[in-house]
Amino acid sequence: MRLMNEPSTELSALSTETRRFDPPTELAAHANVTADAYEDAAKDRLAFWEAQAGRLQWDRGWDRVLDWQPPFAKWFVGGELNASVNCLDRHVEAGLGDRVAYHWVGEPEGDRRTITYAELLAEVSKAANALTELGIVQGDRVCIYLPMIPEAAIAMLACARVGAAHSVVFGGFSAQALVDRITDADAKLVITADGGYRRGAPSALKPAVDEAVPQCPSVEHVVVVKRTGQDVAWTDKDLWWSDVVDRQPAVHQATSFDAENPLFLLYTSGTTGKPKGILHTTGGYLAQVAWTHWAVFDLKPETDVYWCTADVGWVTGHSYAVYGPLANAATSVLYEGTPDAGGRDRWWSVVEEFRVSILYTAPTAIRTFMKWGDELPGGHDLTSLRVLGSVGEPINPEAWIWYRDVIGGGRCPIVDTWWQTETGAMMISPLPGVTSCKPGSAMGPLPGIAVDVVNDDGDPKRAGFLTLNEPWPAMLRGIWGDEQRYRETYWSRFEGRYFAGDGAKWDDDDVLWLLGRVDDVMNVSGHRISTTEVESALVSHPSVAEAAVVGANDATTGQAIVAFVTVRGSVADDVSSGEAFAKELREHVAKEIGPIAKPRQILITPELPKTRSGKIMRRLLRDVAEHRELGDVTTLADPTVVNAINDKMGDASTED
Ligand code: PRX
Repeated sequence: MRLMNEPSTELSALSTETRRFDPPTELAAHANVTADAYEDAAKDRLAFWEAQAGRLQWDRGWDRVLDWQPPFAKWFVGGELNASVNCLDRHVEAGLGDRVAYHWVGEPEGDRRTITYAELLAEVSKAANALTELGIVQGDRVCIYLPMIPEAAIAMLACARVGAAHSVVFGGFSAQALVDRITDADAKLVITADGGYRRGAPSALKPAVDEAVPQCPSVEHVVVVKRTGQDVAWTDKDLWWSDVVDRQPAVHQATSFDAENPLFLLYTSGTTGKPKGILHTTGGYLAQVAWTHWAVFDLKPETDVYWCTADVGWVTGHSYAVYGPLANAATSVLYEGTPDAGGRDRWWSVVEEFRVSILYTAPTAIRTFMKWGDELPGGHDLTSLRVLGSVGEPINPEAWIWYRDVIGGGRCPIVDTWWQTETGAMMISPLPGVTSCKPGSAMGPLPGIAVDVVNDDGDPKRAGFLTLNEPWPAMLRGIWGDEQRYRETYWSRFEGRYFAGDGAKWDDDDVLWLLGRVDDVMNVSGHRISTTEVESALVSHPSVAEAAVVGANDATTGQAIVAFVTVRGSVADDVSSGEAFAKELREHVAKEIGPIAKPRQILITPELPKTRSGKIMRRLLRDVAEHRELGDVTTLADPTVVNAINDKMGDASTED
């Protein structure tokens, strides 16, 4: 594996931070979890996780906590449970049927749905009955391609209820991305909607499905939720959700499944062009997700109103907008739209309206709000907030302090949570009633989690590569259909360790700093995008000869995609140098992958800088993209290329 990024010196400098913020006294006094948890876990890690799994309802107890045949883990071996029952039935049976599960907020002003646990159970039961009628059985895969509407959570829980694995594809992905994911998973059913609301207007979803499904022979049916009422094309595989779900009985007798029954696949970018289907199973995943959600947010389900702003298309939406909060009988807000829909203070009016007490979001959003100004949150009553969370990318101390002061009124602890699609649940994070936090740091591993920072040889060091050296309950169980890639990607770089792909550093106070990716994966607004994937999309355009893509630092989005492109000889200079051409290439990438992968900048250049062995010098391109002093160019086959690229950078085409 090639490690291309040195953690930047700018980020490394953060670890000289000396400010500390203690837990609020009141919160610490009543915290769900105290410092004892670290001691308990250190004494007996497996017993610690057994205790957390005991918070769930098992229909059959496990025979063994862990079966570890590296790199394959089974947790709670022999145990049986149903994830949907754990999220719904047991709460209703405990008398919590009238508790609100979701306050759903649609993007159009005034669009609201309040769904109690009893109502959610009824909806999920109907959907599960519909899945059964459509021939979905345990072990099948169902692709879910929906906006942030309650049906997204309902569909996920219905799959879990019948033992089928869901594969949620983010609504911002293109038809081609959908084809790749449906085909890889061999999905029998697609659940989608006519469209969703984005930035004040209906935005169609179904056309992408219409384009994808004819290329996916595994798909037998497409179930379509009517959300916007826009016109849709119709095929004989299509069924309206309202026709197939609404008439079903609102009762569904769930059976229990093995702890290792697949719960979901979630595709994420790797260092090659092909996305990886990350496989998660039921018991260990739910145990760790439920415990971390309760411990890290200090959740008091009776009184808290919790809002995770992530889309269900990403792992944060799976673990902390659906499974974690529901397993804990929490009341959540679910919001359909963008942060600026109906005004740039939309989020703050939602916090005020529902008296949100726990907010979980991404640094990119925080930085955007910082840019928009303090007056917007300042115009709303945010005194209900008591815990703030951050996820998806390193949070810079400036944004951390702003989040604490302006959003949290200086009262709320911030939990900066590091984890990944692959880890399934939070791994590195402070505990809000225990940890004295440094702004910008995720502080250290949670109880029951073991990390090491290692050098190239795998020896523990103060700075280097982040590794996890013990299996954890919510860990991925593999890459769907590709055991070899699973071994190679995560377990081959360092003997006996899971390599996360991130750089990290311990500071002098033994506080851990996450320093960003060290491989060919970019992190744009907290979304993982592979450089190779964008490059393949670009070279699939008939005018492009070669492309090199790098992630350049960006003040708002963390990283931004910058593409260096050489065109084929047949393309005239005046065409390739024009704004229209760059726009065409950006649109092409949007079509191949999705709008989230559109480069911010496209630079047409006569050559790409390469080493004598022909490898593109990405580090150099990143320097160019970030306008830094250039590093060593002596290995360049043609050093003049860099000057040519640098000259062009000034007038490069930029997406605003
Ligand atoms: O680089 C790390 C970054 O996001 C990557 C995982 O991305 P994904 O699988 O999409 O999951 C994102 C949501 C869990 C990691 O390899 N990352 C995530 N959280 C943090 C972070 N980097 C620094 N600090 C974090 N809190």
